[in-house]
Amino acid sequence: MPRHSRTERSNSTMQFRGTRRLDVRAICDVATPIRKASWIHPYPAKMLGEIAGSIVLSLPVPREPRFPLTMVDPMCGSGTTLLYGLCAGWTVKGFDPNPLAALISRVKIARYEEKTLEFWLQKLAKAILAVRHKDTIALKESDEFASLRYWLWPSVLDEIATFRLALDELSLPTKYRNFLLVAASSSIRPVSKADPEVVPPTISKKTQKALGPGRPRSFFTAFNFQAKKIKSSLLATMLQGLQRHGSRVRCEDARGLDLEGGCADYIIMSPPYFTAHDYVRSVHLELLALGMCSIKELHELRVRTIGSASAYGNRISSLGLYHCDSTIENIRKRHEQRARMLCRYLLQMKDVLSECTRILKPQGSLVIVIGGSTSQGLTVPTAKLIAELCSSVGMQLDSMPVVNAIRSRGFMTRRNVTAGVIEDEWILRFTHSERGGAIPRFT
Ligand SMILES: C[S@@+](CC[C@H](N)C(=O)[O-])C[C@H]1O[C@@H](n2cnc3c(N)ncnc32)[C@H](O)[C@@H]1O
Repeated sequence: MPRHSRTERSNSTMQFRGTRRLDVRAICDVATPIRKASWIHPYPAKMLGEIAGSIVLSLPVPREPRFPLTMVDPMCGSGTTLLYGLCAGWTVKGFDPNPLAALISRVKIARYEEKTLEFWLQKLAKAILAVRHKDTIALKESDEFASLRYWLWPSVLDEIATFRLALDELSLPTKYRNFLLVAASSSIRPVSKADPEVVPPTISKKTQKALGPGRPRSFFTAFNFQAKKIKSSLLATMLQGLQRHGSRVRCEDARGLDLEGGCADYIIMSPPYFTAHDYVRSVHLELLALGMCSIKELHELRVRTIGSASAYGNRISSLGLYHCDSTIENIRKRHEQRARMLCRYLLQMKDVLSECTRILKPQGSLVIVIGGSTSQGLTVPTAKLIAELCSSVGMQLDSMPVVNAIRSRGFMTRRNVTAGVIEDEWILRFTHSERGGAIPRFT
């Protein structure tokens, strides 16, 4: 490959309107720091880095690109797409009503100074030593801590209460506080009684047997380990060099985005798959232990979270869409509650997609990664239903859907036999319908 000077390189870029520079290796190479940074927390149902990377590389550049381009993930979870978007040089905006998801995403897209991180870790260690045992009593008697007694040993609850009081004593910049909270939240499950191999906290017979009367591991030991690991992932030189251009994450619902109409060049999201994960249940230990949610707020979050298996709709109403209505009807013949659940899921997703249509620029692209599922032994062709919902809110497919076979089961919630296994996930790309063009058929 001939080597070019900087001027030659920029001239060659200028020969093509709309050309953008991408560090393809940084986005694709599985061993890069971006992949390590995606894994700073075991938040469930993360998008695969390879999928996020290939979407970023495949997106068409707007005809008259203004830099930086803006990418929105309205259901950002732990922020994989946001991180890949930052690597592409975009301004990224993420939303998720789950406070833990929003926290992890914020930490992933922030830039940290090593010395300042060290400074606050040491300050925290000193503040922990200064907490008096009697000051932790009120916190340990709260309803939130009472509900954790089944999952966490008393000594672990002591340590978490001490950590919280020590953190409250420090007046530190929000992003450093967020870092400490992410490290703490990754340290709770490993020292709990829950089976480490199951996503929603579960005390299986196997774990009970393995735990026996044994001593629990220390939360502080786990915290120090996690803080070190996250620090080394986020301080990688490549991530330090990224521009942040006003990128941000809000703890909000995707059905009412705090964004102006027509502001997004790209929207990339992987919505909850129908009843695949109970996000709130999966992370409720962390939310309660770290004071991110009260018990009442946890219930409210459950209601706001789309696709949750525990939220039934009140009644079945027609969406006026052939595939959606017939799938609901087929399931209703076998199980009324499941059908209500699907109806509620589709209505909620329609609201999310309407918001996406509102915020997407006329030439912009919306990419959705979604898996199908089975309910009551019947296939729920979620990708097809989402495509139908999209067309009802003014979006059309603008390329052939891509299917990826899911190989790893590690992060899938153990499901009821009638719910089946999610085999494939679909990558669907849409644009505003009024742009015209050939519409690929979805069969
Ligand atoms: C499949 S996960 C997203 C994973 C993400 N792409 C990643 O790589 O970490 C789906 C997310 O949708 C979020 N979600 C559920 N209901 C929502 C709502 N009403 N508004 C916004 N996000 C919601 C869930 O909290 C969950 O974090």
